[in-house]
Amino acid sequence: MNFANRCEEKVQQLQAHGLIRDLHDLEFCDACHAVDGAGHRLFVACSNDYLGLRFHGDVISAARNALEQVGIGSGGSRLVTGSHAICGAFEREIAAFKGAEAALLFSSGYMANVGLISTVAEEGDLILSDEKNHASIIDGCRLSRGKTLVYPHRDAEYVEKLLRVNRAVATNCFIVTDGVFSMDGTIAPLPELLALAERFDAQLIIDDAHGLGVLGAHGHGTLEHFGIPMGPRVISVGTCSKALGSLGGVVCASKALVSLLRSRSHQVLCSTMLPPSAVAAAQKALDLLQKFPATVQEIGHLSTMAKDIFLKNSIPIMGDGGAIFPIPVGDERRATFLAQKLYAQGIYLQGIRYPSVPMGSARLRLTICASYDEGEFADVIGKISKVLAANK
Ligand SMILES: Cc1ncc(COP(=O)(O)O)c(C=O)c1O
Repeated sequence: MNFANRCEEKVQQLQAHGLIRDLHDLEFCDACHAVDGAGHRLFVACSNDYLGLRFHGDVISAARNALEQVGIGSGGSRLVTGSHAICGAFEREIAAFKGAEAALLFSSGYMANVGLISTVAEEGDLILSDEKNHASIIDGCRLSRGKTLVYPHRDAEYVEKLLRVNRAVATNCFIVTDGVFSMDGTIAPLPELLALAERFDAQLIIDDAHGLGVLGAHGHGTLEHFGIPMGPRVISVGTCSKALGSLGGVVCASKALVSLLRSRSHQVLCSTMLPPSAVAAAQKALDLLQKFPATVQEIGHLSTMAKDIFLKNSIPIMGDGGAIFPIPVGDERRATFLAQKLYAQGIYLQGIRYPSVPMGSARLRLTICASYDEGEFADVIGKISKVLAANK
């Protein structure tokens, strides 16, 4: 079969299984409203902009100032072209925020995971990875020369078994987990995993893409949620693309590890740095988060409200009370059908399907944004409940 026919056949197969993806062109008006090409106004209930900062006036001004002062692109890799001062300033600020010695920026959260894991895990090393970890962790493991063993979701006892059998023959060991799992909304058992890391001389890598700005009294993330300080066993990965409303990934760790990554990670060495305006926006968002930590509590408040309404309407939900509320629907075609029904009612809520989640476990992934109007959001949850109840 020639290549063109193979592509055509694959698209038809995806269509037949309810797995084809289409893009909707939207004009966003603020963090949670958009208008489509036909002029329909939509409530966007599935963004990762958990604090609504991508439309904050101060964040936009910071980006605009940087744009006017230092241009659009960064001009090349930081090590080749020279590093914009804003990048170093942001790295120092986020390292202090996370309680780490140092930090290093990558062009995205995806790149941060791939760059970190593929650089640190060498031949003879062992990586233990949660089965529901983000694709960027999976790809980082694949690119590394270490041996990866996958453990059942959040199963610390299983991790212990794997360590007992495999740790002695490995040179270095890494336990890697999402802090908050992006498609399930579950929270990793960090106290247990950290205790195992201490006992078996391993490093704990936490991808806190969905914890930063959401969990903990100050929005420091999943470690703060558990009351655990940053320490030498922990490597924390973050992204500026979610609660910070911008773009870019960051690894917070020891000075030595940051220095190693800066000198050896292809994702840093061989890729153009983020636009300085994106970094300026992320830095302003981080400043706002530190100045107004109470905004983080608004997520908890809206999350409790959403949970109560869903329970009252007998709609099952997943998640551990962060900003992610997956509503399980099972069949892929049903997920698409429900998303279309909601769209017709002015609610933009995507069906999450394979390969983002296992086949047969499609879901609608509702997220909370601190800037939702409470009454409007309650109304949206009511409408979602009605659509689900009418289409069982
Ligand atoms: C857990 C997790 N890690 C990493 C990423 C990648 O972050 P970014 O979108 O900044 O590339 C995502 C984004 O979807 C994520 O959910």
